[in-house]
Amino acid sequence: MPKYYLTTPIYYVNDVPHIGHFYTTVAADVLARYRRRRGDEVMFLTGTDENSQKNVEAAAKNGYAEIQPYLDMMSGRWRETWTALDISFDDFIRTTEDRHKKAVEKFWRAVEAKGDIYQGDYEGLYCAGCEAFVLESELVDGKCAIHKKEPNRLKEKNWFFRLSGYREKLLAHIDAHPEFIQPVGRRNEVRSYVDKFMSDVSISRESMKWGIPVPGDAKSVIYVWFDALINYLSGVGYGTDDAAFAKWWPADLHLVGKDIIKFHCALWPAMLLSAGLPLPRTVFAHGFFTVNGDKMSKSLGNVVDPKGVCATYGIDPVRYFLLREIGFGSDGDFSLARLAERYAGDLGNDLGNLLHRTLSMTEKYFAGKVPAPATGDTAAVWTAYEAAMDGLDFAAALDAAWGLMRDSNRLVDTEKPWVLAKTDTVRLANVMYTLLERLRQLSWLLEPFLPHIAPKIREQLGCAAAEQGKTWEQAKIWGGLPEGGTISKGEPLFPRLEEPKKA
Ligand code: MSP
Repeated sequence: MPKYYLTTPIYYVNDVPHIGHFYTTVAADVLARYRRRRGDEVMFLTGTDENSQKNVEAAAKNGYAEIQPYLDMMSGRWRETWTALDISFDDFIRTTEDRHKKAVEKFWRAVEAKGDIYQGDYEGLYCAGCEAFVLESELVDGKCAIHKKEPNRLKEKNWFFRLSGYREKLLAHIDAHPEFIQPVGRRNEVRSYVDKFMSDVSISRESMKWGIPVPGDAKSVIYVWFDALINYLSGVGYGTDDAAFAKWWPADLHLVGKDIIKFHCALWPAMLLSAGLPLPRTVFAHGFFTVNGDKMSKSLGNVVDPKGVCATYGIDPVRYFLLREIGFGSDGDFSLARLAERYAGDLGNDLGNLLHRTLSMTEKYFAGKVPAPATGDTAAVWTAYEAAMDGLDFAAALDAAWGLMRDSNRLVDTEKPWVLAKTDTVRLANVMYTLLERLRQLSWLLEPFLPHIAPKIREQLGCAAAEQGKTWEQAKIWGGLPEGGTISKGEPLFPRLEEPKKA
């Protein structure tokens, strides 16, 4: 069985998940479900990044005298949110876990043994929001351009990682492996950073008390990014379970937002090269989105809670919307008006209605039984869908499915089964079989995106049990819906939403 190991970033626990975090996590979940259906053994890892100064500050602000209980409570809330939203993660890593600390220690020692860690003085401007040193030239009006806060001046004895020693190797890797950094715009951005700006980084903090102690220097803690990136190793057994590690590493895919691409495509691969470990196959950076045109922020009060929006629209419609509306890799906007439109249009009209009218006509003209198979060919749809999914072009994969759906709705309009019922029952049977069989196939194509709706489609088509045991390759074969099967029309898939009450 081929294996597929994919990750999300591990999230800071200074706040609860918002729709932007859900976006990354849903994309990973869609891929995990898709790869499992394609027959891969999948490891889908997510988790929480707990050794950040932000978390320490949040603990204090929330009245916690001790940090760990706050982290436990918050990490629990992240995990529960993903569970409630049916994210099919296989493991959840926390950077305060023992397995992680062991891995970090082993990793540090390996890099040290390579001669890539040295001691030096550091003086610089540190932005706690970025958890990174920033350059004077990057500031806008003396403030961090992203976090709009003045950075602190830090001066301390630090351990440094010889990042600059990996410039040539990294450039060679980026050039030889076009799949390593995606999409291509990001590859160019990272390449020029590695080529022109990348310098050694400080990987310890003397002034901070919370974090993983530097092996051999208990006064200092390890820089949070150096620690956090290692989650991708500790999550699959590095330092604790050699067999698991050998099985899963290297990762097939790290999914990240564009804000953290440099950490993942410059620092991380250099760390791995230093430790003598293979590099992940692909790092894919998606874009950022605004909410109704505005940057999402607490001060604007427009932070979207994924649980809330899923309670109104359903989990599947929100998943669909996020991956259809915003091209994966591009920036976009999350607008509730657009969500409502796509809910009623793409989902209600195109999909819901196609199923509903197909089943109604099967009841009416064939007493609810699937008629004899007609010939048909959907191979091109599957090919386009698979190519899109393999390239993480979710919108194009959905387009392929919607093409088949819209063509099917057109087929009803042009063939007019209600006329054929009086004039040509053979043709009527062919049309109805075509529609039913296409819906069966669509249930497969839609399942990674609509994991709750797809099984309902199969139940209504009366083929849930038969489809359950099929492989992806078997599911593709035209004619999988057996003649004589009994359909059972159910509740509408996408009920009309109540108009929001006017105050
Ligand atoms: N803890 C680090 C990651 C360490 S990985 C070794 C971190 N955490 S975070 O909680 O800030 O999450 C950042 C991720 O959330 C982004 O990379 C992105 O995937 C996602 N997003 C946060 N806001 C977003 C939007 N407005 N739009 C899209 N994605 C967003 O950084």
